[in-house]
Amino acid sequence: MCRLILLKCDRPRRHILIEVIRAARKAKGWLQRSLAARAAVSSQAIYRLERGIGSAKTMEAAAKALDYRLTGVAPGRTLAEQLRNRRVKQKVSISSLAKRTGLSPTTISAVENGGGSIASVVRILKVLAPKAKRRAPERAYWGQGDKEDRDSRFTPEEFMEPVYAAFGDIDLDPCGHPSSPVVATRRFILGNGDDGLRDAWFGRFVYVNPPFSAQLRWLRRAHEQWRMGNAHTIACLVPARTDSAWFHETLRADADVYFLQGRVRFIDLRGGSQATPFSLMLVVFGATAEQKEAFAATVAGFWMDRK
Ligand SMILES: C[S@@+](CC[C@H](N)C(=O)[O-])C[C@H]1O[C@@H](n2cnc3c(N)ncnc32)[C@H](O)[C@@H]1O
Repeated sequence: MCRLILLKCDRPRRHILIEVIRAARKAKGWLQRSLAARAAVSSQAIYRLERGIGSAKTMEAAAKALDYRLTGVAPGRTLAEQLRNRRVKQKVSISSLAKRTGLSPTTISAVENGGGSIASVVRILKVLAPKAKRRAPERAYWGQGDKEDRDSRFTPEEFMEPVYAAFGDIDLDPCGHPSSPVVATRRFILGNGDDGLRDAWFGRFVYVNPPFSAQLRWLRRAHEQWRMGNAHTIACLVPARTDSAWFHETLRADADVYFLQGRVRFIDLRGGSQATPFSLMLVVFGATAEQKEAFAATVAGFWMDRK
């Protein structure tokens, strides 16, 4: 009886981490089983997760599938890393955190290594980052049209010419479209069963003009593929959003960023064209000095060099 009551109390039902996961799933229109399939866990695991029960691994897998991240913790690729970095940043030892959370040092180490339970993660969050909240979902910036329309604006030839001239032929466009004027040796096309967020990238030069509604996700993917050595140089044309910690801490260190002067007229699905109502930047991983110079010679703007 006591044990039952304890277990009930330990459920972190009201924590933002749990509450918003359910809301994020519903916002995508996914059933629990759809999320389960995408996160490669059982439907039962998702059912339990939404009640604050289960393993931190299930939570991490679901969060990844939902593109759900917390802000107000610390940088890190996973929640476990974010928690460890937060503890280290606050100069809190594992034993002191153990006392403050009522968990054992072994449990805290397990959570920081991606293990442990959701309840333990929540207890640690309550102590280390009580103001953590969900990063606001990214939004498309185009003012009109439905999501598919806004996410399918093609790079015009006028912009591509300086790209080819400075960086060379494109080996891969990982988010290609049959109607896009971008010339690439290989394109990943969603309708053909390709998935640029799943399939490995390759080649000397990869050009990416991603769906802007998932800009950060594609930039992270580009960074990951470049770090893995799958592509030598990767250029991503995206809205000039500089607000994320990731931009300041990771992109700033690893990418050269070209801030464009003026707007680019992208081509829409009906063949019309419209200038972006926002500023753009070209984020490049693995650029050489010659490539940067050649690009700047023909496109108005300036480079912010990687640190
Ligand atoms: C902004 S358009 C850019 C098309 C082309 N790269 C260009 O620059 O003209 C982005 C395209 O990515 C495609 N897309 C969306 N998600 C994708 C995914 N996971 N894998 C591959 N392509 C994807 C969409 O069909 C959309 O047409």
